[in-house]
Amino acid sequence: MTAKAFSNARERLFGRHIEALTRETERALAQTGFDRLLIHSGHSRPRFQDDNHPPFRAHPYFVHWLPLPQQADSLLEIAPGARPRLWLCSPDDYWHAAPPEPEGWWAEHFEVESVAEPEAWLHALAERRASALIGDRADFTTLGEHAELDPPALLQQLDEARTLKTDWQIACMAEANRRALAGHRAAAEAFAGGGSELDIHLAYLAAAGADSESMPYNNIVALNEHCAVLHYQRREAARPDGHRSFLIDAGADVYGLAADVTRTHAAGPGLFADLVAAMDELQQRLAARMQTGRSYVDLHFEAHRGVADLLHRFGVCRMTIDAMLEAGLTRTFLPHGLGHFLGVQVHDVAGRVAPDGCALPPPKGHAALRLTRRLESGNVLTVEPGLYFIPSLLAELRDSPLSAQVDWDVVDELLPFGGVRIEDNVVVAPETPRNLTREAEAG
Ligand code: GLY
Ligand code: MN
Ligand code: MN
Repeated sequence: MTAKAFSNARERLFGRHIEALTRETERALAQTGFDRLLIHSGHSRPRFQDDNHPPFRAHPYFVHWLPLPQQADSLLEIAPGARPRLWLCSPDDYWHAAPPEPEGWWAEHFEVESVAEPEAWLHALAERRASALIGDRADFTTLGEHAELDPPALLQQLDEARTLKTDWQIACMAEANRRALAGHRAAAEAFAGGGSELDIHLAYLAAAGADSESMPYNNIVALNEHCAVLHYQRREAARPDGHRSFLIDAGADVYGLAADVTRTHAAGPGLFADLVAAMDELQQRLAARMQTGRSYVDLHFEAHRGVADLLHRFGVCRMTIDAMLEAGLTRTFLPHGLGHFLGVQVHDVAGRVAPDGCALPPPKGHAALRLTRRLESGNVLTVEPGLYFIPSLLAELRDSPLSAQVDWDVVDELLPFGGVRIEDNVVVAPETPRNLTREAEAG
């Protein structure tokens, strides 16, 4: 779907999304014994002893229903048999701009009441109906005797439903990927032009048509050794002495749904450029395997096998692939998981529980793996293998009995490049998964 087709389909897709959410929620309420569900958007709080606020993002359960990721102080009520009701807060405030007016394409599915006070809906809590309330405890002066906050059995069922994305959500993530890829193209050009991390970050935002505050997570914009810092959070304004490598992990947000995309670039030909190309091949091979019924834990282990193969081929380690895996050596070079669920949260819910709610902890030695389920059609997840040269982890390896198996000259040659990660967003399907990122890249 092109951007124009997305805009044309918006009304139809959103309507079906709300129908699906209504069905799921009514079923979950019936099974857990509640008469209705209340979802609070959250309340923006100022910084300590100040009256300015950090960027606000609404509660994810609220954003799941409403394309309003920046809306505060509002309450949604879902009661079986009635149109969902929304108390939408638009404060009388001459310091700030009012929230945008409700737009017909989404507002027609709700009974919208505009209110000026952040707690104008408080009386709704007092109704004598068994009410489940989702929100932040700190936002409620009182819950009343009929409301229960974040009831676990209900949340488990709602979270489970969130693992299967609606067509609306997939369309939003496809559009988010298109915007992200526009940013990634501009970032690659800024890198080729010798820009600083900050220059590249700003080029990304301009091309993606967004500011930092509306990004689904903080852009990771890393040059040279910084590529080894998994969630590198600084953006240096000074240009480094030379440009060797560039890793950018940056997404986009469309109506509250996220893209989460990483690309790595080499400044010129050589061993690191070859490693990036080989990682790209591995990543695409893995992405094509995001098929219904597969175990994501097994796919994570396939990624480790692929990394072992790269370590062998690039002369980093002399051991066989099986011996490397047996010894756990690849974990020095790939210390994070293969990926995670993606949706209104970048690391979306229910990645480590079975459909019946039982815990599915990650395997021993792989604590960072955020997704341990068997895949289902309609899951949306990231596929993000990496291979890094992280000084603290390499120091541990150097001190271990495995040190003799490593060619430290090759490690030293690659250390100044930091590392490589390549990340796409993929919709699981029985045969051919839909890769939203490659689709957007192909234009
Ligand atoms: N951008 C954060 C992640 O890839 O998980
Ligand atoms: Mn990412
Ligand atoms: Mn990710």
